[in-house]
Amino acid sequence: MRTCGIVQLLILQCWCLLIITAMPLDIKDEICLNSNNCNDNTTYIWHQIHNKIKELASGAKHLYEKYYEGQGFNSNTVDKICDPVIVHFPKFNATNSSEKEKAIELFSIFSYVSAALGNITNVQNEINSKNKLLLSELEKTLSGVKGILSNLSCFLCKKYHVYHVSVYYGPPLPRSRFDQKAQGCKMLKKYKHFIHQAVDATMIHHPYESETQNP
Ligand SMILES: *[C@@H]1O[C@H](CO)[C@@H](O)[C@H](O)[C@H]1NC(C)=O
Ligand SMILES: *[C@@H]1O[C@H](CO)[C@@H](O)[C@H](O)[C@H]1NC(C)=O
Ligand SMILES: *[C@@H]1O[C@H](CO)[C@@H](O)[C@H](O)[C@H]1NC(C)=O
Ligand SMILES: *[C@@H]1O[C@H](CO)[C@@H](O)[C@H](O)[C@H]1NC(C)=O
Ligand SMILES: *[C@@H]1O[C@H](CO)[C@@H](O)[C@H](O)[C@H]1NC(C)=O
Repeated sequence: MRTCGIVQLLILQCWCLLIITAMPLDIKDEICLNSNNCNDNTTYIWHQIHNKIKELASGAKHLYEKYYEGQGFNSNTVDKICDPVIVHFPKFNATNSSEKEKAIELFSIFSYVSAALGNITNVQNEINSKNKLLLSELEKTLSGVKGILSNLSCFLCKKYHVYHVSVYYGPPLPRSRFDQKAQGCKMLKKYKHFIHQAVDATMIHHPYESETQNP
């Protein structure tokens, strides 16, 4: 009887372990899922992340302008309508955190940006389908963001063995078209600010660089 109990306990523990180790595989944003395709040189990955962020930063103002022009907002109203104070955007602790914390924050923020850009693109596809220039800017940015997420996954997985980062995808889309347009505008304005911070935060000649170099 006693042995049986112990065996059952062992089996139970075993199941628990199995469940615990198996769980992350079910999570959609599993970071290490494609780590087989990752470059082994994490310094190189970080450089690539920085360069891609720089590239996005160089187009962020243009994207913002094309967006608000495309909504028919004029220069008098745009500051008011697109005032980003009341839109959700994850905070970025750019300066005082470790490289690992920074990479985790960036992953979480870019995941949010990716969802938000996806939503904005869907709405614009419906209401502005003739505005090819805007749609292509959105598409270009979204694909850049996805590339950065893929590189950040590799970086976090390979260098820090982080396999999950929690992400908040923001409040649901507002119902009215006007509010959707305005929310997109606020979001893109905050994104413009964030992406420039991110350039500095991932700077190659950063004090943290010495940590990233493998012996
Ligand atoms: C890793 O990449 C960095 C930056 O591109 C490069 O300087 C370094 O030589 C690479 N290290 C190895 C071991 O390939
Ligand atoms: C970064 O991600 C892109 C897109 O997945 C990939 O093509 C590229 O090889 C990655 N770079 C590194 C250094 O892993
Ligand atoms: C920055 O990071 C610290 C430590 O992780 C945290 O306590 C603080 O709330 C963060 N600040 C912002 C603005 O997110
Ligand atoms: C910033 O970093 C320094 C040095 O690690 C630490 O002493 C200080 O408390 C940090 N400040 C904040 C606001 O986290
Ligand atoms: C995007 O839209 C989905 C579905 O409406 C919603 O759940 C999510 O919160 C939205 N996220 C952002 C950032 O707009």
